[in-house]
Amino acid sequence: MMKSEVKTSLLDNMIGVGDSVLLEPLTEDSFLENLKNRFDHSEIYTYIGSVVISVNPYRHLPIYTPEKVEEYRNRNFYELSPHIYALADEAYRSLRDQDKDQCILITGESGAGKTEASKLVMSYVAAVCGKGAEVNQVKEQLLQSNPVLEAFGNAKTMRNDNSSRFGKYMDIEFDFKGDPLGGVISNYLLEKSRVVKQPRGERNFHVFYQLLSGGSEDLLKRLKLEREFNQYNYLGLDSAKVNGVDDAANFRTVKNAMQIVGFMDDEVELVLEVVAAVLKLGNIEFKPESRVNGLDESRIQDKNELKEICELLGQDQAVLERAFSFRTVEAKQEKVSTTLNVAQAYYARDALAKNLYNRLFTWLVNRINESIKAQTKVRKKVMGVLDIYGFEIFENNSFEQFIINYCNEKLQQIFIELTLKEEQEEYIKEGIEWTHIEYFDNAIICELIENNTNGILAMLDEECLRPGTVTDETFLEKLNQVCAVHERFESRMSKSSRFLNDTTLPHNCFRIQHYAGKVMYHVEGFVDKNNDLLYRDLSQAMWKTNHVLVKALFPEGNPAKMSLKRPPTAGSQFKASVATLMKNLQTKNPNYIRCIKPNDQKAPHVFTEALVCHQVRYLGLMENVRVRRAGYAFKQPYEPCLERYKMLCSQTWPHWRQGARDGVQVLLTELQIPPEEFSYGRSKIFIRNPRTLFELEDLRKRRLEDLATLIQKIYRGWKCRTRFLLMKKSQITISAWTKRHFQRKKYLHLKSVTLVIQSYIRGWKARKLLRELKHQKLCEESATTIAAYWRGFQARRELRRLKEEARRKHAVAVIWAYWLGLKIRREYRKFFRANAGRKIYEFTIQRIIQKYFLELKKKLPSMSPTETAWPARPYLFLDNTHTELKRIFHLWRCKKYRDQFTAQKKAIFEEKLEASELFKDKKALYANSVCQPFQGDYLEISKNPKYQKLTGAVEEKILLADVVNKINRANGKGTPRIFLLTQSKFIIADQKSGQIKSNIPVMDITSVSVSKQIDGLFAVHLKEGSTAAAKGDFLFTSDRLIEIITKLYRTIFFKTNQKINVEINNEFLVQFNQDKVCVKFIQGAQKNGNLPACKRKNNRLLEVTVP
Ligand SMILES: Nc1ncnc2c1ncn2[C@@H]1O[C@H](COP(=O)(O)OP(=O)(O)OP(=O)(O)O)[C@@H](O)[C@H]1O
Ligand SMILES: [Mg+2]
Repeated sequence: MMKSEVKTSLLDNMIGVGDSVLLEPLTEDSFLENLKNRFDHSEIYTYIGSVVISVNPYRHLPIYTPEKVEEYRNRNFYELSPHIYALADEAYRSLRDQDKDQCILITGESGAGKTEASKLVMSYVAAVCGKGAEVNQVKEQLLQSNPVLEAFGNAKTMRNDNSSRFGKYMDIEFDFKGDPLGGVISNYLLEKSRVVKQPRGERNFHVFYQLLSGGSEDLLKRLKLEREFNQYNYLGLDSAKVNGVDDAANFRTVKNAMQIVGFMDDEVELVLEVVAAVLKLGNIEFKPESRVNGLDESRIQDKNELKEICELLGQDQAVLERAFSFRTVEAKQEKVSTTLNVAQAYYARDALAKNLYNRLFTWLVNRINESIKAQTKVRKKVMGVLDIYGFEIFENNSFEQFIINYCNEKLQQIFIELTLKEEQEEYIKEGIEWTHIEYFDNAIICELIENNTNGILAMLDEECLRPGTVTDETFLEKLNQVCAVHERFESRMSKSSRFLNDTTLPHNCFRIQHYAGKVMYHVEGFVDKNNDLLYRDLSQAMWKTNHVLVKALFPEGNPAKMSLKRPPTAGSQFKASVATLMKNLQTKNPNYIRCIKPNDQKAPHVFTEALVCHQVRYLGLMENVRVRRAGYAFKQPYEPCLERYKMLCSQTWPHWRQGARDGVQVLLTELQIPPEEFSYGRSKIFIRNPRTLFELEDLRKRRLEDLATLIQKIYRGWKCRTRFLLMKKSQITISAWTKRHFQRKKYLHLKSVTLVIQSYIRGWKARKLLRELKHQKLCEESATTIAAYWRGFQARRELRRLKEEARRKHAVAVIWAYWLGLKIRREYRKFFRANAGRKIYEFTIQRIIQKYFLELKKKLPSMSPTETAWPARPYLFLDNTHTELKRIFHLWRCKKYRDQFTAQKKAIFEEKLEASELFKDKKALYANSVCQPFQGDYLEISKNPKYQKLTGAVEEKILLADVVNKINRANGKGTPRIFLLTQSKFIIADQKSGQIKSNIPVMDITSVSVSKQIDGLFAVHLKEGSTAAAKGDFLFTSDRLIEIITKLYRTIFFKTNQKINVEINNEFLVQFNQDKVCVKFIQGAQKNGNLPACKRKNNRLLEVTVP
């Protein structure tokens, strides 16, 4: 819609008077009449200068449409009929255009429409400020923080179905363009006592009802909740349903808002778990149990609820149960644990529920702040919107109402200070003619409450910190003493007797005359609520849960961070935060919205005059109108005023070199503004009528348009000229570059052509020179070659001549030699035929033999006696010589081999030779013995201590010592015996003891008999009649038969020089005693290896079975 089409104005179609300043006559009645008149015609907004009065219509009015937003956008405050949008627009524009931080102060009693007004301001600002995806998201998050905080912080009260039970101040931050960047919310004291108890006809916080009504079956099951409200002790029963409120739908809105604000799904779940746990805490009941010492101890009645809470919070049931039964007090490192009685247990339960909920609320605010905080660090402009709980008077007012009303007192004070007090003081200070207008200053009430030495809050703190018994009554007593004389404090028991007979004032109450009316406070709970203590056991138990959110809510439960220091009291905390808030508000440009509640029934169209009159009075609206009327609509220091309007006057534009005040004076005179419309203060100009200001603004706007056109013109001219100059410069540059480029190209071409020609000429010259030089060289070389050829030719001719000469000389010599030879041969032919033939033959034979020997010498075979090879015979005539030489060589070689032998080795070989002569090809056993060296002493008898005696008895050298089997003559069985042979005898001895069995001289041996077989049996035949032969011949078996018999044979030969007979036969006779027994060898299977088995068959036969 085109703005210019809107023809409305403050004065157009005006119902009553839009700005109360214009009321004529100005009385309280006319003021009220005007408000009522307008209210009846659905005009709920009325101005007092720049202050907006808003009367709650309690119904929906079609004045908040997007069209309305457009209508009010960028319009002067007084241009259109009064609206909250006009105030919001004014604030937003002066923030954006004049760089002034703004605050919007919305005051009024509970239910007057503050929260609604704050939302309207925010939605208007959101609608008119910048656009874009990012900006829209910021706006959406800022707006959606409202439903979340309202669900958790608002409740139905007697006065308001959506009463804010916490204070809220929100800073919306903008960048230099006026686009929102983010925001910061501060919250003030939540009325947490509502969690556990609500006055009649009121409800708990909305969220509980919303969750139970709107939560899905599945969610409620997860949270272990029942849908019915009456299942929960903490939910007031009488007014659980509020008319026109759909809790289920609101729950969906809240969940959606949480999502938009940036809560994760699991965070929402955690929050709802805590809400459910708080609700269920109320269902834990305690019963008394008597103890021996007569005291009552509390016990949890039904542990099921506790179990479910613990499951929800990831808590150990025993830990929480203990925290509900005991209280540990720690002082000076001493821990004292006391049991709780039923009342104390209920107190602990409620304290836990209140604390859990309160901390959850603070966490929510912080979490929202995290999401909506501005992401940049650039300088921000700020618009603060304050919506705090309104002034309230209940039947039973407690600590919470006291705090709420105190806060409202402070807001009233800031209003008075900035609009009534400061303004009037400023007129006087600026030297403007002024008649003082009386108003009520509520500083005295603020003093009564907040004075650091004797204020009510200070008394309460003092009482809370005092040792000894402290009760609400002792606190009241103290108040009665200290505040008795205060004109705004009333108490039955105070020292002054003013109220002794006032029966409307009970004994346990005190009354304060607030700016908005008298409020009676019951002291009950003041001390406790101010202390705001949670048993340490409970905070520690909460810290121990596995629930991340709950754990984070109770950081003081961490034993590592435990401090004995008392936390600040609720009262002092609140006082400090209100003081900070006030300081903050004072730095900003204030905009006031004063909300008025038209009736107590929350009904539309009802305007209870008495009620409104009361509010008009205590809000000081009449005084406000009077000050405005008598005063000036607008004031501004000279410098910014001159700066803003200097373009309206040719003298001040563009520069004014003298003082700002003179400049403004020149300016206003030239504009011909009637002198009664303004006054010159000391440092400021005061403009009486807003209309004058608007005129100035209009002139400025038009002038600005002209200036803008001028600037545009100059700028365009400048831009075109700059562009032209740039193009010209560019053109010159381009042509310079192009020329340079072509010249350069041409030069390079010429250069290359010149170079080619140059090189051709140089080449041609060089080649010519080369040709000449080559010709010259060729001439020189030809001469040399010809000379060389000539010399060569001459040399070769000379050589040929010399060679011819030599050949001829040689031929002559040869012919001469032949001739001489022929002559001599002819002469000596007769001598040659007689001798030469034989000599030649001998010489030839000699040469052949010489050659034969020399070759044989080279081909001689190896020196081994076993070698059989011999070189082949070269000449037939040397056959015998060759064979003889082979024999001689072999003998010589054998001799050489023998010469290397020692005497001992020689004897062994002699023995071996002897054995070969005796047995070779005669006895089968011989072949085995060839490779065995004849050792002789196999027993090492002289070294063996066992045979010491035996060797002692034998004096001679032992030639052979071995163990043999002596065959028993009677049965043919063998017995092992030592067989010793010396140079003169052989001895048979016992193998074990070494005792000599037989000692036979070798001379008594006549012969020896053996078989032809492989066996080792041999018989030693003895001389008949000798002593040794008494028992007859000996029969032995031994594997070393060959060695034994050879040694025996040789010994006897050396001794007697006779060779004994060695009979080799498979059958021979032996002499046993008187018998001649035949030893017969037969072939057969053998039981014991190679040893022969002998068996005496009868007197005449001994059978030897051999393998
Ligand atoms: N401009 C309005 N248009 C329509 N209804 C309104 C308007 N302002 C207030 N109301 C109605 O009045 C009710 C109470 O208003 P609101 O919650 O803003 O009061 P309040 O001043 O914030 O009170 P409290 O101090 O208890 O928080 C609203 O729920 C709404 O129904
Ligand atoms: Mg509110």
